[in-house]
Amino acid sequence: MSQNLFSVQDKVVLVTGAARGNGQAIAQGFHDHGALVYLVDRSPTVAQTAREITGQEQRALVIDLCGPDAARTVVDWVVQEQDRLDVLVNNAGITIGGSEPYSDQLWQQTLAVNLQVPFELSRQAAEVMKHQSSGMIINITSLGGRLGFPDNPAYQASKAGLAQLTRAMARDWGRHGIRVNSICPGYILTSMTRKSYEDPQLKAERSSHMILDRWGRPDDLVGPCIFLCSEAASYITGAEIPVDGGWLIKGL
Ligand code: NAI
Repeated sequence: MSQNLFSVQDKVVLVTGAARGNGQAIAQGFHDHGALVYLVDRSPTVAQTAREITGQEQRALVIDLCGPDAARTVVDWVVQEQDRLDVLVNNAGITIGGSEPYSDQLWQQTLAVNLQVPFELSRQAAEVMKHQSSGMIINITSLGGRLGFPDNPAYQASKAGLAQLTRAMARDWGRHGIRVNSICPGYILTSMTRKSYEDPQLKAERSSHMILDRWGRPDDLVGPCIFLCSEAASYITGAEIPVDGGWLIKGL
């Protein structure tokens, strides 16, 4: 056992959707704790984010993860650089609310980014991790995968699917030393939630569910991610950890 139970020192970490928001904070957190982080996003601003975090733009890859062969391209890119991959954080996600009738396009796009992409990336990463006999995968799920929210069935189905995919992959790959877990954020203030944060009524509705009496910050996800990828969590797999200020367990 290493001296620091919570160390992620020198681990090779790939974070998707890392240009901004939660992904950026997670990448920054791993970097600050000694990991070698690789950032992926379809937004070209990810290069700037990588430079700010690591000092190197080469740690960023601009790619639409829904594109052909994207998963292989991304995993090969990291492995060519470091000859290994210790951690995959499937963070990239989209939410496109829309009232009824639900459109096919919205359904397919959401399922593609939020569920198909994590599946393909994990499958690709697992091939590398199996050779290493070790690896950690974290999927970023959502309260939307657990509770009923209006007008966004694709997001909710995709995140519930991702939580179950976590358990399925944990089951299949545990024997290879790969641990797969989910983190379920509550309302974190990012571009994704800014509209509801800035609308007084929507903000009040959401705030009323938060036992800890504040909105989440992207940084709130860092500790749980590091914990899950450290020796401290060496016997944890298939879990979904809520990081939600108490939203899920609030009664009155
Ligand atoms: P965000 O919209 O600020 O960031 C998402 C990032 O993913 C963006 O940089 C975007 O360019 C990237 N992305 C989207 N589709 C992509 C694709 N096809 N290929 C490559 N990159 C792509 O959102 P935020 O809030 O940082 O969300 C990150 C994750 O956290 C998402 O999975 C989201 O569902 C989840 N989440 C967020 C919550 C919140 O309150 N902000 C609550 C629960 C879950």
